[in-house]
Parts: sequence; C-alpha cells; structure tokens
Amino acid sequence: MPRQLREVVFVDGVRTPFGKATGQYAETRADDLVIKCIRELLRRNPGLPPERVDEVAIAATTQIGDQGLTIGRTAALLAGLPQSVPGYAVDRMCAGAMTAVTTTAAGIAFGSYDVVIAGGVEHMGRHPMGEAVDPNPRILSERIVDPDALVMGRTAENLHDRYPTITKQRTDAYAVASQQRTAAAYDGQRIQPDLVPVAARTAEAGWGLVSTDEPPRPGTTLEDLAALKTPFRAHGRVTAGNAAGINDGATACLLADEETARELGLPVKMRLVSYSFTGVEPEVMGAGPIPATEKALRQAGLTIDDIDAFEVNEAFAVQVLAFLEHFGIADDDPRVNPYGGAIAMGHPLASCGVRLMNQLARQFEERPEVRYGLTTMCIGIGMGGTVIWENPHHTEGEAA
Ligand SMILES: CC(C)(COP(=O)(O)OP(=O)(O)OC[C@H]1O[C@@H](n2cnc3c(N)ncnc32)[C@H](O)[C@@H]1OP(=O)(O)O)[C@@H](O)C(=O)NCCC(=O)NCCS
Repeated sequence: MPRQLREVVFVDGVRTPFGKATGQYAETRADDLVIKCIRELLRRNPGLPPERVDEVAIAATTQIGDQGLTIGRTAALLAGLPQSVPGYAVDRMCAGAMTAVTTTAAGIAFGSYDVVIAGGVEHMGRHPMGEAVDPNPRILSERIVDPDALVMGRTAENLHDRYPTITKQRTDAYAVASQQRTAAAYDGQRIQPDLVPVAARTAEAGWGLVSTDEPPRPGTTLEDLAALKTPFRAHGRVTAGNAAGINDGATACLLADEETARELGLPVKMRLVSYSFTGVEPEVMGAGPIPATEKALRQAGLTIDDIDAFEVNEAFAVQVLAFLEHFGIADDDPRVNPYGGAIAMGHPLASCGVRLMNQLARQFEERPEVRYGLTTMCIGIGMGGTVIWENPHHTEGEAA
C-alpha cells in the first residue's frame, strides 16, 4: 500500500498553574487538573469538533490512585469527549508528556490519527517521588545501575563531578537568572495566556481560583542561595534553590496533521522536525539531553548552529549548564529559556514536556527570524529527550 508521511503540527498547548506540593492543590485531584487542560483546549479551539480527536495520551510517573486507571481514557471521558475517543497512559518519568507528544505525533505522521491530545500530570503532593516503587533487587545487587541513579539530586551532584568547571556559584547564578526571567515573563504577560485557571480548595483558605504559579521566588539573590543546605551530599553543590522543587500540575496540547489543521482552521504554532530519546549512565541522568540533541540534530540534517530558540527543562541548574557547556553556549544566552524555567516555575515531573513546548511556541511567535528551536529534558534512570521544531511564522526575508 503506498503511504506518505504527513507533517505534524503543534496547534495549541495549555497548562494549569503549577503548585507547591503541599500548597494550592493540596486538596485537588490530579485527574481534575488534566480535565481542566483538555476542556480548555476544546474551548480555545472551537473549530475542532470533539469527535475529531483520535487519541488522548496523558503521562504520569506514578500511575496509581487519581493518576491511575489509564488516565488518558478516564480524563477524556470526564472532560466530556465522546465515548468514541480513546485514550491511554504514558510513563517516561519527567519526559512523560514529551513522550505522549512524540508517540502520538508518530501516529499522525503514519496516518493513524488526524488530531490528538497529548499531555501529562504529576501531583507530587499526593504521589511523592518513588511512591510504591519496587525495584528488582538485581538492579542494585548486580549494580545494573548505581544506587545514586534512584535519587535525582545525587545524579545532579555526580554531574557536577563530571563537569568540574560548573561550580556552585555558576549554578546559583543560573538559578537567580531563572527566577528573574520568570518574573519578567509574568510582567510581560508571556506565561498567563497558556494558563488555565483552576478552582481549588485548601483547608486554610477555602475555595479560590488558582491563576498563577506558586513556586516562583522572584526576589531570590545569590546571597540567599549561598546559605542553603546541600541535601544530597555533605558540602555538595545542589540545593533547593538551584534545583526544581516538588510540585503539582498538568499540561495538554493539541497536535494535528498539518492539512487537517488547515481544514479545521486551527492555528499552527510549531511544525515537528525530529525527535530522539537516548540513554546515558543512570547515575548522571542530567547528561541525557546532550546525546539526545545530537541524535535529533543528526536525524534532521541540522547542527546546533541552526537552532536559535531553546527550551531546556531545568530539573537542576547543573544539568542545563552541562548541556550549554557541551554545545559551547553561554550560561546567560538569551535564546535559552528566555521566560525562565522549572527552577522558578516548578517541575511536576510528567507534565513538563508540554510546558517547554508552550514556551517555545511563544518564542517562535515573538521571533519570526528564528527558523528552528528545540525542547529538551533529562529523564530518570539515565535518559534524555529532545524534540526539534520549525517556526511556521519564519520568513526567509527575516532570517538572521
Ligand atoms: C532540593 C529538595 C530536596 C528541597 O526540598 P525541601 O527541603 O522540601 O525544599 P524547600 O522548598 O523546603 O526549601 C528548603 C529551604 O530552602 C529555602 N529556599 C528554597 N528556594 C529558595 C530560594 N530560591 N531562595 C531562598 N531560599 C530558598 C526554603 O525557604 C527552605 O528554607 P527553610 O528550610 O529555612 O524553610 C527538593 O526540592 C528536591 O528533591 N528537588 C528535586 C526534585 C527532583 O528530583 N525532580 C526530578 C528531577 S529529575
């Protein structure tokens, strides 16, 4: 049967504001956060008949309780999508939503789907990292992975060892900049358009409408950060200030075959170019974005010099700086995370790939001179994931 691959486009993406694990969503269910995102995508894109959604892929790292029961399917039903719309759950830890996007995107390119919803959720308050895990004893006793691999903060300390030029001063300076960039992005209304407000109740405050991220600490200074403990190693370098926190939140996006998007009059915010997931030594999982990016670039026939917009997940500052150092990019390059990142906004694990995509889409909209950008993240048990995107607003005449 003759078959032609189809272009995949990112139509739209939203997320809930992110919360601190014992904060604004303490009494809110994880699946309710996902439902808000799906409903908001449908509200914002009235040209999309709900029955045209061919798949709903939602990621969560801990798939039990309100994050279990094949959350893509149950959230789709609860969001009011027709029963004919299927759904499933995805897990690749921090890159869950990214994997939900790439897997369904591959289905679009192949012709199995025209339109999909992909996203992720993590309520780290209701589901602490490592909840109910039961690693096979062989994984440690036979040293299939180093014991450090199971504690993300220790992998970040190990990455510091690998890159002795990345000092605590550099990671703290990066963290301060992330806080400042997030504050400026909020001031410039660059974050709010993609946030869906959530009605939430806490025992202390009663009912309220959550409309902003809870984790940012805009006033953070280098002096503040210098004073923090290093919980993962005595006299270490990783602190609560230069790492992402323990957070709650959900994301979802609409992807489509480009022709279907045009037929339905849906916006085209980004065009998928290539993607790659790559494994590294689990005890330095933060190095993952480096080989993943090299592979995704190779597949696309591009080099790092072709990329002019970056959204790098900030699980830990050291992991972003290792990526930048490898590719010869300055710590404060304005093309990298211009609206800040997870250190300030928070990192509800499996949800975050789509937050990066929302922010890259905004970079593309604001900078038509940019042709290619990428989203990349490190992943537990030693992996990296990178997705390269093309800017549909790019015009040759405006090329840099
Ligand atoms: C680093 C980590 C252990 C800190 O947890 P925590 O101790 O509960 O964090 P807190 O928010 O309570 O912060 C600890 C202290 O630092 C302070 N702090 C945190 N960020 C700060 C900032 N930007 N400026 C000033 N102080 C700050 C807090 O006020 C708190 O001070 P206190 O002890 O006097 O109350 C936790 O956030 C963590 O594990 N992060 C990594 C998450 C992760 O692995 N994600 C997956 C990535 S792959």
